[in-house]
Amino acid sequence: MVNREKSCTFANCIKNYGAKKRLNKPKNIYSKYKMTQDEQYMARCLQLAKLGAYYVAPNPMVGAVLVDSKGKIIGEGWHQRYGGPHAEVNCFASAEKREDYSDCTLYVSLEPCSHWGKTPPCALLLTEKKVGRVVAGMLDPNPQVSGKGMSILREAGIKTETGVLEKECRELNKRFLCLMEKNRPYVILKWAQTSDGYLDRRREEKGNGPVVISSKLTKQLVHKKRAENMAIMVGTRTALLDDPKLKTTHWSGRNPLRVVTDRHHRLTANAQILSPDAETIVYSERTDWPYILNDLAARHIHSILVEGGSEWLNHILSTGIWDEIHIEEGPHTLAELTADQPQPVVGVAAPKADMNQAICTRMENQLLYEIRKQ
Ligand SMILES: NC(=O)c1ccc[n+]([C@@H]2O[C@H](COP(=O)([O-])OP(=O)(O)OC[C@H]3O[C@@H](n4cnc5c(N)ncnc54)[C@H](OP(=O)(O)O)[C@@H]3O)[C@@H](O)[C@H]2O)c1
Repeated sequence: MVNREKSCTFANCIKNYGAKKRLNKPKNIYSKYKMTQDEQYMARCLQLAKLGAYYVAPNPMVGAVLVDSKGKIIGEGWHQRYGGPHAEVNCFASAEKREDYSDCTLYVSLEPCSHWGKTPPCALLLTEKKVGRVVAGMLDPNPQVSGKGMSILREAGIKTETGVLEKECRELNKRFLCLMEKNRPYVILKWAQTSDGYLDRRREEKGNGPVVISSKLTKQLVHKKRAENMAIMVGTRTALLDDPKLKTTHWSGRNPLRVVTDRHHRLTANAQILSPDAETIVYSERTDWPYILNDLAARHIHSILVEGGSEWLNHILSTGIWDEIHIEEGPHTLAELTADQPQPVVGVAAPKADMNQAICTRMENQLLYEIRKQ
């Protein structure tokens, strides 16, 4: 279910979007050039594929459209949930029934599968349906497929084409592709910092909680990110001091798998991160980042959101194994946010990121920076 009420809150906020550094206006990615007809149908496939967001992981999001000889779309489908029928199957289920579809082109954002998984191979379905032409956005890097789907189609005499809106298809499934191509989850590092660069005031015990930097709206955005990623992680001190639940409560979608290190077995059974309503993995023996990523990949986890704290984020940054950094900067300094605390206050410094690479947008009074690994 798309969270309509919550989406509306963001819609209201769009008028507040502005730029501090590089202007990141909402723009139509296809506006620079006139799209070919194949690209137009592929763009529709991408729209459909996105409807599977939050529910298909670790599978890719895939959309398909069936177009007749007059250019009319006669069927549409997308992969709706993990273990469920693939986009091509749903597309034919929605189409008018015919003996053969040899005058039709089937557009699909990812190469049709060629293996028996939870469902039969889609490439065989397309040969049975006698489709005339198949256009795939990109080849599937899954070693079980990897070009074999297109080969089955070609061998059956079906015209094929790949690489239509390939960049957009890759962006949509960057998490799935990372697991397939790099054999590790896609890594997003995320933190909120004060305007003078602190994550919190230094605390030795739970006390009255961390300094609040996020707004109500950006908190909701964080929960959207949680729903988009299969796992979520915080450093040991953050788990002990903040006692976070790390669940998806302000957005629709699944709770991510919770991940934490605990070298000295300091987490107690009543820690909220261990609550039974979501799964948790605690690493105690081996706790280095490459090992954790390797282990998560073996569990088919395609993405992880790391929500601080500073020491753990710095450990990850020192390994260089990350893909995106999302920083939220509030409008206030640490001193302003801790004016009611006994002084002097010592801050937990935010990690240092290369801000020259950052794209900045604004959501109300918060600046949102995004950095992509080059
Ligand atoms: N503003 C934000 O976005 C945000 C987000 C999260 C947290 N925070 C705040 O940040 C503060 C916590 O940050 P922090 O830097 O003090 O702590 P942290 O990064 O959450 O955790 C650090 C701890 O992780 C463990 N650790 C570090 N490197 C490790 C490694 N290579 N392998 C295994 N374990 C390792 C160590 O504990 P052991 O020695 O026990 O293993 C270390 O003390 C809190 O005040 C929290 O509220 C703010």
